[in-house]
Amino acid sequence: MTKILVTGGTGYIGSHTVVELQNSGYEVVIVDNLSNSDIQVLDRIEKITGIRPVFENIDCTDFMAMTNFIEKHNDIKAIIHFAASKAVGESVENPLLYYSNNLFSLVHLLKLMQNFKISNLVFSSSCTVYGQPDELPVTESAPIKPALSPYGNTKQIGEEIIRDTIYANPDMKSIILRYFNPIGAHQTAEIGELPNGIPNNLLPFVTQTAAGLRKELKVFGDDYDTPDGSCIRDYINVVDLAKAHVIAVQRLLDKHVRDVETFNLGTGRGLSVLEIIKTFEEVTGVKVPYKIVDRREGDIEKVWANPVYANNVLGWKSAETVEDTLRSAWAWEQKLQMNRKNSQN
Ligand code: NAD
Ligand code: WQD
Repeated sequence: MTKILVTGGTGYIGSHTVVELQNSGYEVVIVDNLSNSDIQVLDRIEKITGIRPVFENIDCTDFMAMTNFIEKHNDIKAIIHFAASKAVGESVENPLLYYSNNLFSLVHLLKLMQNFKISNLVFSSSCTVYGQPDELPVTESAPIKPALSPYGNTKQIGEEIIRDTIYANPDMKSIILRYFNPIGAHQTAEIGELPNGIPNNLLPFVTQTAAGLRKELKVFGDDYDTPDGSCIRDYINVVDLAKAHVIAVQRLLDKHVRDVETFNLGTGRGLSVLEIIKTFEEVTGVKVPYKIVDRREGDIEKVWANPVYANNVLGWKSAETVEDTLRSAWAWEQKLQMNRKNSQN
């Protein structure tokens, strides 16, 4: 079996990707420091796939620990690097935490790839690198705009570090994936997003409000230049997103990548905040109390992907409807609440 190292593999997108990798016959080894995930995710992955991935609680910034891990697993053929801190607001308050966690992890990983002759890397980047694009839908060749946060900057710098390293090391190859807005959960409702504290992202706030955990959702602005005045995003199903990683890994292993390739992963369709709320209410039958408040600082007005390059070259296309994706997010939230109640009794 082909062994793949997944950093951040117990996290939201990582755990869904581990499931898809295992279901496709890959052997997965995970490192994660559990800073934003729960060890129980391993049980859930095992429940879905019948296989418990190898796991070690390691901080990717710890070069010695990572070296020891890779020495033990000297047959790793590719790495998918999810491990990073991702809260935009926190990155503004504590930039050094973000620069050190996200960039030291990456630099160390690339050094380890050199040292151990691991050729293939898939990297989690973000549509945040485009800022507010001049043209929509946004293609991969759109200019990179100055980052709006230290978090966003770590993705821009991360991409540059990868490109420089790959160009200097002809044996190394990488696929950079720019995710738009991942939402939803696995269809089994065994794994999903586990927001820490008060959610910053829209969907967990919607589901927590629907579940009665939050009084109301604040819609940040209805005076944007969009049809209903609220911001527009490209919401991509997390399982669809996970499947793209399996394709990317195989493309690297098949030696179809010359040096570095960069792909947008989105649906190609933009939805407004108000459309998301309305659709959520329609498919779940549950009301989401909300009020319009001021714009949130730093928000982009509208962005959605042109996913044609990923469609054509990776042969990947988002498949799930937004309706099914919102249903999956709600099923996951309900399961979380049920588990919480059971653990209190
Ligand atoms: P997540 O927080 O759920 O998962 C990240 C995982 O990495 C967590 O399990 C965390 O414990 C782990 N981690 C963090 N720092 C680590 C370190 N130094 N060593 C080891 N483990 C560490 O986040 P996610 O939503 O699954 O995001 C995965 C990747 O995708 C991240 O790189 C993120 O920046 C990127 N991304 C996410 C989104 C999004 O909206 N979720 C959008 C674009 C890009
Ligand atoms: C979506 C829309 C909000 C919460 C962030 C990061 C980005 C990427 C994805 C990692 C916006 C609105 C939200 C709420 C609201 N992450 N909203 N009320 O801002 O597109 O992107 O996550 O790379 O880098 O910046 O996602 O989910 O926070 O917001 O009205 O309580 O929902 O204004 O229009 P965003 P989000």
